[in-house]
Amino acid sequence: MTRIKDPSAAAAAEADLPWLQRYIPLTRRVAADLSRTTLRGRRLGLNVHLDIKMVPVVEALVQAGAQVVVLGCNPHTTRDGVAALMAARGAKVYAWAGMTEAERQEGFRWALSHECEFVSEMGGELLAAVVRDGSTSRQTLRAGMEATGSGILRLQALRLPVPVFNWDGLTLKQGLHNRYLVGLMVWHTFINVTALTLYARRVLVIGYGLVGQGIAEYARLLGARVMVCDIDPVRLVLARQQGGEPVSMREGLARAGVVVTATGCDRVLGADDFPHLADGCILANAGHSNLEIDIPALRRYPTREVRPAIEEVAVEGRTVYLLAKGAMLNLAAGFGDPLDAFDLTSALMLAGIEFMVQHHAAFPAGIHLLPSDVEHRIAVIATGPLSPSQ
Ligand SMILES: NC(=O)c1ccc[n+]([C@@H]2O[C@H](COP(=O)([O-])OP(=O)(O)OC[C@H]3O[C@@H](n4cnc5c(N)ncnc54)[C@H](O)[C@@H]3O)[C@@H](O)[C@H]2O)c1
Repeated sequence: MTRIKDPSAAAAAEADLPWLQRYIPLTRRVAADLSRTTLRGRRLGLNVHLDIKMVPVVEALVQAGAQVVVLGCNPHTTRDGVAALMAARGAKVYAWAGMTEAERQEGFRWALSHECEFVSEMGGELLAAVVRDGSTSRQTLRAGMEATGSGILRLQALRLPVPVFNWDGLTLKQGLHNRYLVGLMVWHTFINVTALTLYARRVLVIGYGLVGQGIAEYARLLGARVMVCDIDPVRLVLARQQGGEPVSMREGLARAGVVVTATGCDRVLGADDFPHLADGCILANAGHSNLEIDIPALRRYPTREVRPAIEEVAVEGRTVYLLAKGAMLNLAAGFGDPLDAFDLTSALMLAGIEFMVQHHAAFPAGIHLLPSDVEHRIAVIATGPLSPSQ
């Protein structure tokens, strides 16, 4: 049984679809070519951000005959209209905005009861739940796919009984999406939410992977002075090479007007760090976890909402501001990736799912980079006459 907040919310989300469809030619093409023979009757679990851009993916899988079970991978990014629209288009959905942790766990149990053969997700939590499950869902699982660095870290810690395809490591995902789109959209959302510029602001980026590099680069383009903190000294050399100032955490916190976390790890900014923040500092997170900034520890200080998606926190005589409750800023308080750019990602996801169902039996248990043939196919279409820039 589907469990969503409001079935009637589907109509508003549906009104957005024609504009979206116009700008996702690659996804439409891959969707049209999906093999019904491969997908018909297959039980597929998706644990993804329930953003409008995921609707064509779900719809294509349903139309190809798959039985699609959907969870939202982050209650801060779930849109109730999108959950309702996916249900209206034939998926079974268990998700609503602002679910509690207990409700999320209930959602995982609900998904396990569907005994999915294949899982495609963002964050690795459904696969982890299946792997730890004592019931038949573990026996039924054939393969998985993971889209995020945080999810790959989570899955690496498990003894996986099936092959899991990492598509976060592909050039189209890392080199374009992670490196450029997140940075662009984090600052777009920052400006929308705060109504502030970055001119002459000191920005501290914590975590200088591709996501952090994109965030740093766009901050510089928008006039910020960028400091970088990373536990990996090699990444710090890279940051210096690219115009950033490597700093220790304490030094960065004392000087930064804006702090953005992008590490893929929990509590990188924790209780011991908060008293070192400069007065007026604005905190935001771009990493997958809602706990990169230790929100429960920050909430021990007096907190009040001062604008939508901005909370003011009184930390030992100073005032700091938290954006989007510490969830991924660009998704929780913005519209995530631009539609045309995300076309590559959603096309890749659909093609990857088809590959996983067709070829999983040829791979041993464990994590494998999704073979580059899949992204090559998408890249060939993308640079041909269907190019989104046409
Ligand atoms: N907001 C979005 O839309 C979006 C999109 C893609 C990926 N992500 C997420 O962004 C995060 C980062 O992704 P990535 O591909 O850059 O990862 P990455 O693993 O390449 O880089 C993370 C960096 O953080 C550093 N780090 C880890 N712990 C740290 C600590 N305590 N202090 C300082 N530095 C630390 C690591 O050394 C590494 O250099 C992941 O959680 C990923 O899922 C977000």
